[in-house]
Amino acid sequence: MSSAQLLPADLFRGRTVFITGGAGDINLAIGEAFAAHDANVGLCGRTGEKLDKARVRLESLGARVSTAVADVRNYDDLEAGITRCGEECGPVSILVCAAAGNFLAPAEALSPNGFKSVVDIDLLGSFNACRAAFEQLRQTRGSIIFISAGQAFAPYFAQSHVGAAKAGVDNLMQNLALEWGRFGIRSNSIAPGAVDETEGIRRIAPGQIRERLASEIPLRRLGTVGDIANAAIFLASPLASYVTGTRLVVDGGMHLPGSGLYSKMIVNALGGRAASDQD
Ligand code: COA
Repeated sequence: MSSAQLLPADLFRGRTVFITGGAGDINLAIGEAFAAHDANVGLCGRTGEKLDKARVRLESLGARVSTAVADVRNYDDLEAGITRCGEECGPVSILVCAAAGNFLAPAEALSPNGFKSVVDIDLLGSFNACRAAFEQLRQTRGSIIFISAGQAFAPYFAQSHVGAAKAGVDNLMQNLALEWGRFGIRSNSIAPGAVDETEGIRRIAPGQIRERLASEIPLRRLGTVGDIANAAIFLASPLASYVTGTRLVVDGGMHLPGSGLYSKMIVNALGGRAASDQD
């Protein structure tokens, strides 16, 4: 179910949301959800063609749209895009730090530059966006939403770079909640689990892993981009006006088994009953 079926269509009328990496699968769905509630939408990304397609989609939903070709690692380009968005659409009151990089690489095979690339996109890029949007967020007493991940709070094999980056993102989220609360700015993160039909899941759950993953998740399905968009709408809405410094995990309970190995051994020791009882 989408938020548009439950919440007022004009919930974000006159508000501007800026989304880094905004043409990506989850990130565009977030933009669409805000557009469905009458928000104006600013997007940045590295590929002009993808941004153009996203613009067409968002304009078809009635949004005023501002796009900027900018890599979040380049502060000047990003700042120019956020400033122009404010001029074209009105001051940014919701910032979604969503640009991310990911690939599977065991630490012993990962080059220092590969590690740095992901930390720079996810963590430095998030700081750059917050810093560049600060004056507009202060003016609007706005809200920041970071897209984190389960890797921020649990180790995942072949994801040391992502874990370091996302743990940093969540720490930045809490520091900004602490420091910028006095300006009326809220700061929260969403930690999506395995979200279906995204570049992320294609990169880190190739082949059969996707199907097996779904059967292991407590809610027995992968997430949808709409699940994440709904969480973003909630965090940006007045329903969350006293919520800041929080990580909202939206993963169907995927993180709950803790050590997967231990959990699997227990399931096996119980002769499969623990798993089949729940199906
Ligand atoms: N395995 C191991 N190392 C890899 C890799 C992989 N699959 N892909 C890239 N790298 C390394 C490169 O070898 C390079 O290191 P080196 O200079 O020591 O050789 C380093 O990462 C940077 O690669 P490059 O392609 O120049 O980086 P980029 O800045 O153009 O791209 C990435 C950034 C690497 C994060 C790329 O995967 C990307 O653009 N991702 C964006 C989309 C995405 O990941 N979406 C999912 C989000 S959940």
